[in-house]
Amino acid sequence: MRELVTPYNGRIEKIRPMLDADTIQARVKELGAQISRDYAGRELVLVAVLKGSVIFCADLMRHIDLPGLSCDFLGLSSYGSRTVSSGVVRLTSDVSCSVVDKDILIVEDIVDTGLTMQYLLENMATRRPASVKICTLLHKPANEQVHVPLDYIGFTIANEFVVGYGLDYDERYRQLPYIGTMSFEDA
Ligand code: IMP
Ligand code: MG
Repeated sequence: MRELVTPYNGRIEKIRPMLDADTIQARVKELGAQISRDYAGRELVLVAVLKGSVIFCADLMRHIDLPGLSCDFLGLSSYGSRTVSSGVVRLTSDVSCSVVDKDILIVEDIVDTGLTMQYLLENMATRRPASVKICTLLHKPANEQVHVPLDYIGFTIANEFVVGYGLDYDERYRQLPYIGTMSFEDA
């Protein structure tokens, strides 16, 4: 696959493919099968973190074979337009249903410092769910500031800024069917 080169706002943005669409889809299918086995006979609620994990969640849930499956969404914000974590996490929108006594699987796009997931685990724990686990498509362990248990991991990646398959840079590139590393050059 070729590099995507995009002139934008006086700079050149380059995206080098790292995980192609077939590789992602095959792994998502495996995760779905594993989740189906682990939660057999239970009523699982997927809680996807907006906006980055929407595409992952949409694909993942079609590979989860559980009659009681449902999904919900919440918004968290820690980023703005920079490519490093601010460490300040904010709930920007909440789930629409009660999570009391439910088995919750948080669906996240990427865990970097761990601060976002730490915040969300603590927030969820106060609502008395039956259980809370995390499924993240990507894990960047190099930047870990706090350790959070990641129950399902799609891919472990190096410490590079990535976009595509839901992940954005400044709200762009979410629509790419693959995941690529991003770099910048002066135009
Ligand atoms: P953490 O709190 O540092 O673990 O950051 C998690 C959040 O930062 C993710 O949910 C993403 O929204 C964002 N993020 C971290 N690394 C990347 C990246 O490489 N590309 C796009 N977003 C990222
Ligand atoms: Mg996110």
